[in-house]
Amino acid sequence: MARIAYVNGLYMPLARASVNIEDRGYLFGDGIYEVFYAYRGRLTDEALHFARLKRSCNEIGLATPMGQAALRVVIHELMRRNRVETGLVYLQLTRGVAKRDHAFPTPAVRPALVLTVRPKPEPPETLSCWSAAAITLADLRWGRCDIKSTNLLPNVLAREAAKQEGAQEAILFDEQGMVTEGAASSVWIVGADNVLRTRGLDQHVLPGCTRTAVLDDVAAEGLDFREEAFSLAALRGAREVFITSATSFVKPITKLDGLPVGNAAPGLIASRLYARYLARLKEG
Ligand code: PDD
Repeated sequence: MARIAYVNGLYMPLARASVNIEDRGYLFGDGIYEVFYAYRGRLTDEALHFARLKRSCNEIGLATPMGQAALRVVIHELMRRNRVETGLVYLQLTRGVAKRDHAFPTPAVRPALVLTVRPKPEPPETLSCWSAAAITLADLRWGRCDIKSTNLLPNVLAREAAKQEGAQEAILFDEQGMVTEGAASSVWIVGADNVLRTRGLDQHVLPGCTRTAVLDDVAAEGLDFREEAFSLAALRGAREVFITSATSFVKPITKLDGLPVGNAAPGLIASRLYARYLARLKEG
């Protein structure tokens, strides 16, 4: 079955879906995006993703072409047309098509909205076959990583470097040697002191929707937790490292820069949070 995309009001075969070469997303990366995980017809952490979308738009002065309710209708219609109930929904909104000039076009042009969906398997029942290897790399990104911008060249280069090393994620660290986040995920550690940590939100990390949802699970599990930055040394010495995102759910990192993390198997805390995550998915 041919995949169907949504492009500025039209549903069309993906093979025919294209953007204008003067689209500012294409020219400048002047746009924002969201990735949702749809599970059995429902969008996971939907309210969080819509709130972040709105925030990203506000932060770069981009008007949303339609409200949340209409956007929801489009997403579900696109899932229906693609016969995808469980998969990834990609949404991209750019400042639209205009003669190349760095400053915003005046008068403003219509923002360009593009959506695609693709199937993704349901998460496995246990973590035994759900883990990844990561490398560590200097964070070369800009000063507003809290905006989910389509400007992803440093993230792309980091993920490619990981791939070259046989790993799946790159964990980034700043000039002070503190971990920021993964190239496309939030990073968590369980230290030698058994405390679970993830960095607090600031302009150097994306406010992960999965991260926010998992924080409720952390509280429900009564875990010893601190929302604070941790160093590369703490990462390397951690008992457990795991990442969260809409595409990786809760995923243990069992190998870091070629060395085992803990006993090189998914840890207890990640397993408990993964079980909570799965239960939440199933409850809807
Ligand atoms: N990335 N940090 C970065 C830099 C990310 O790109 C992502 C998600 C996250 C986790 O956010 P969330 O839990 O809301 O998915 C953190 C998506 C999945 C992507 O770019 O494909």
